[in-house]
Amino acid sequence: MFRQWMFLGCLMVTGMAFCQSVNYDESKVPAYTLPDPLVCEDGSRVETVADWTRRRAEIFRQFQEQMYGFLPEMLEKAGNHPDFVTFEVVEDCPDALSGTALRKQVVLTFTNPQKPGQKVTANLLLYIPKHAKKPVPVFLGYNFMGNHTITPEPEILAFHDRAGNVLTEETLAQKEGTSARGGRVNRWDVAQILENGYALATMHYVDVAKDQRNQCFTSGIFDLYSDYEGETSREKTDWGAITAWAWGLSRALDYLETEKLVDAKKVAVMGHSRLGKTALWAGASDPRFAVVISNNSGCGGAALSRREFGETILIMSGGLRYWFCPKFREFGERVGDFAIDQHELMALMAPRPVYVASAEEDRWADPKGEYLSCLHAVPVYQIFGIEKPFGDQTTPELPSLNQSVGNVIGYHIRTGIHDVTPFDWTQFIQFADRFLK
Ligand code: GCU
Repeated sequence: MFRQWMFLGCLMVTGMAFCQSVNYDESKVPAYTLPDPLVCEDGSRVETVADWTRRRAEIFRQFQEQMYGFLPEMLEKAGNHPDFVTFEVVEDCPDALSGTALRKQVVLTFTNPQKPGQKVTANLLLYIPKHAKKPVPVFLGYNFMGNHTITPEPEILAFHDRAGNVLTEETLAQKEGTSARGGRVNRWDVAQILENGYALATMHYVDVAKDQRNQCFTSGIFDLYSDYEGETSREKTDWGAITAWAWGLSRALDYLETEKLVDAKKVAVMGHSRLGKTALWAGASDPRFAVVISNNSGCGGAALSRREFGETILIMSGGLRYWFCPKFREFGERVGDFAIDQHELMALMAPRPVYVASAEEDRWADPKGEYLSCLHAVPVYQIFGIEKPFGDQTTPELPSLNQSVGNVIGYHIRTGIHDVTPFDWTQFIQFADRFLK
């Protein structure tokens, strides 16, 4: 019954043409060989950190070419703090959340000198613990439904709903459930984050680029920095939505580097599901992120592609292909031809701390595949002289439920469904404490 249900889910998500029956049977996972992150394209072996620097560049390029796509040249060349992205603090409230926090709202305005008059704006919401004595570490992550869903505070600016429609006070007042003010308080344990001395910085991903295949490439920052007529006018290795969203996270980090109340050298980038895939790619693309956290990111995120358990590259290259570069689709039926697999995405963080969270019932995201990515990233961390990067985890067996394991690479699998829970936040905070406090 469950399998059938997932199969239908797959039809809904991806469209008939790209569907395959979903495997939830461990014994049917095909035999596979993972690419060795420590063997360079010329066959030489990585022995030193200097060798790894060279090899890392190769792997990063392979991910750009085959999975997430290259940024437009203009963005690549501009690097961090591009002068065509500006910040305006539009609210600075000294007394938020019943006096426990400072609240700031910062509008990021994206422009393009070659397209005068055109702009994209995104709202970064910041909660900072009120009585901090020094600049605090930060959790930075995108939210799915809008900043106004994180807490019920009526002052939070709402730019777009999930579908990308511009919100007004009138249209927002009609929203119910997860898209209403405070509709997602369950996913953002702001109290726990603040009590533990962290700031929370969050932004609605739809402000940056729409999450719809037929609209994404002709709106948001795609429209600003590219000239696509739609998804199909992209070149094979051009950017997909995950790269666009990841670039947006780096611009939020640019702002944090100017914010005196936080320590921008101590930013943990975190994301759930597709936004977990985005957090991982942001962490790989921007070494300024000190800690990288993936929650239930699954296929195209933390899970190994070659296992073909739950969601697969073939399924994803149906209706969700716009998250990736066009070339990505070519690997749907020959996943073994990818130069990379997702353990190498983890390895791109080395030696920085990376944490992966799975959920037992989230089989679509392949918890075991998420765990194995962590395990197979270990040899790269060892190049940095870290003796037990994944703590006592040396075998493919999943650890016990509801228990955080590892070291610089951290992992847990909790009971329950695809979600972000206070338990997850407790683990992220305890993990971050070890490196950011
Ligand atoms: C779908 C998709 C996943 C994705 C998830 C989400 O289930 O197939 O790849 O992670 O949506 O982002 O919620």
